[in-house]
This record gives sequence, C-alpha cells and structure tokens, in this order.
Amino acid sequence: MKMTSRPLLFHLLLFCATQTSGVEIQSVPAVNADGVIETELEKSVSLVCRPDGGHDAPVDDDLVWLRNGAVVSLREGNRKGRSSVCVTPVVHDDDGATFSCHLSKNATVTASVTLNVTYHPQLSGSEDVAVEEEAELVLRCDILANPPVSSVSWTLNGSAVDLSAGGFSLAVDGFASQLAAAGVEKSVHEGTYRCTATSPLYGEYGKRFSVTVTEKTFKFPLMPMVAGIVVVCATVLFAVVSRWNRITKCCK
Ligand SMILES: *[C@@H]1O[C@H](CO)[C@@H](O)[C@H](O)[C@H]1NC(C)=O
Ligand SMILES: *[C@@H]1O[C@H](CO)[C@@H](O)[C@H](O)[C@H]1NC(C)=O
Ligand SMILES: *[C@@H]1O[C@H](CO)[C@@H](O)[C@H](O)[C@H]1NC(C)=O
Repeated sequence: MKMTSRPLLFHLLLFCATQTSGVEIQSVPAVNADGVIETELEKSVSLVCRPDGGHDAPVDDDLVWLRNGAVVSLREGNRKGRSSVCVTPVVHDDDGATFSCHLSKNATVTASVTLNVTYHPQLSGSEDVAVEEEAELVLRCDILANPPVSSVSWTLNGSAVDLSAGGFSLAVDGFASQLAAAGVEKSVHEGTYRCTATSPLYGEYGKRFSVTVTEKTFKFPLMPMVAGIVVVCATVLFAVVSRWNRITKCCK
C-alpha cells in the first residue's frame, strides 16, 4: 500500500505545483513571515511581482499593482510577465500601506505586502516662549512615532515638573503631550522646560522651551470709554435741545 501511495502523492503534488498560476512579490528589503516589510523614513523599497513557481506569466496577461486598493500607474513594458514598483523615498504616509499585485484578467490571483515604516518622535532644538503674568502657559511636544513612544516626561530647570503644584495639567494623546498652567506666576513658572519622549527603538528625543514670564500689560478699557463718551454726548445734546426750546419759546 505504502509503495503505491507515495508516487501517487508525489504526482498529485507535482500536478498542483505546475497548475498553480499564482503571483508572488519579491522585495528589497525582504518580506517577513507576516507579509510585512520593515523600513524607515527616507529609505527605498523595491517590489517585484512575478508569477510564482518560477515560470513566466502568459505574455498576453498584464500585471496590475494596487496601493491601498488604488491602481498604480505603470510604464509600458513594466506590466507583462514581471512588474516592479519602487517606493522612494519612504514617507510617513507609507506606514501601513498595502501593495498588492494581481493578474489583470483574474484579480483572484493576487499577492500583497504591507509596509511598516518606523520613525522616531520629531523632537529637537529649543523654542523661546514669552507668557504674560496671570495668562495661560501651553507647551506642546509632538510625540508621534512608530513604534509608539514608551514614555514622555517633562522637567523644569532640570527636575520633574510637579503636577500636584503650580497649577500644572498634562494632556497626552498618541500625537502630542501638552503641559499647561493657568494663572502664570513669574516665581513659579519661569524657567527652562524640557519634554523627553522615549522610543523603544530609537531612544530619547526631546525639545527645550525657555519660558519668560512678562509683566501684565494694561489693557485699555475700550468699552467703558465708549459708553462714557456716548453718555456725555447725549447729555450735551439734550441740554442744547432743551435750551433751544426755551430760546424759540422766548422769541414767539
Ligand atoms: C481565477 O483564478 C482562480 C485561481 O487560480 C481560478 O480558480 C478561477 O477560475 C480564475 N477565474 C477566471 C475567471 O479565470
Ligand atoms: C513595526 O515594527 C516595529 C519595530 O520592529 C514593531 O514594534 C511594530 O509592532 C511593527 N508594527 C506592525 C504593524 O507590524
Ligand atoms: C529656573 O531657573 C531660572 C534661572 O536660574 C530662574 O530664574 C527661575 O526662577 C527658575 N525657576 C523655577 C521655577 O525655579
């Protein structure tokens, strides 16, 4: 039994292999086991689609590339038998983008890969911030990164910002970490702030803020002034009108 079933299985496998008219994507850098290509900003990714099993697609059968479901326009001569696409330079928007390739005549014969674009938080340099006494101080750091940052910290003059004191509040989402303080006081809020975001892949990135608290400027009380002027004008006008009545009465 064994002796006869083995060749049969072998022939079945051989039959299936030669009958598979699938397509496959080869790439630089290589696709991992999950169908993901790991890359970084500014790098290049080159993708080649060809029929799998090592034999060329029928010459009359075009290959079609899609990026996130939208057709990629290909030059003449880059469609038959073998088709290549190059992503260069890789940008933020390419993160998570799926490239798939299929036969133009049969969209079920398809293969796809997804890009995983890693990048660190875009934090660097320093910024001068002036805020008036009693106004609100708002400092914001962009922490968007792939993989996401593992932690964000804020310091004032080198020591951790005490969120329980100084009226500070902290708001964090996937995009930014925002430190705010209402009712700014020079003695409490002036100094050098720094946000530091830690990427599990790229390490620490940070930005510095030199905050100066300026004296409260005298806001000219425009509305009371206008109201006062209106009252004065109305009184004068009323006085003139009543005087005029008396004058005209007198002349009769
Ligand atoms: C498309 O390819 C699949 C898989 O090879 C096959 O089962 C199907 O019959 C093909 N469809 C057409 C319209 O050729
Ligand atoms: C992308 O790559 C990073 C670093 O290897 C990994 O932490 C992350 O989970 C990957 N994301 C996806 C969607 O594969
Ligand atoms: C931070 O340091 C600066 C310069 O030494 C100083 O003027 C400021 O008062 C300090 N701020 C706080 C809150 O201690």
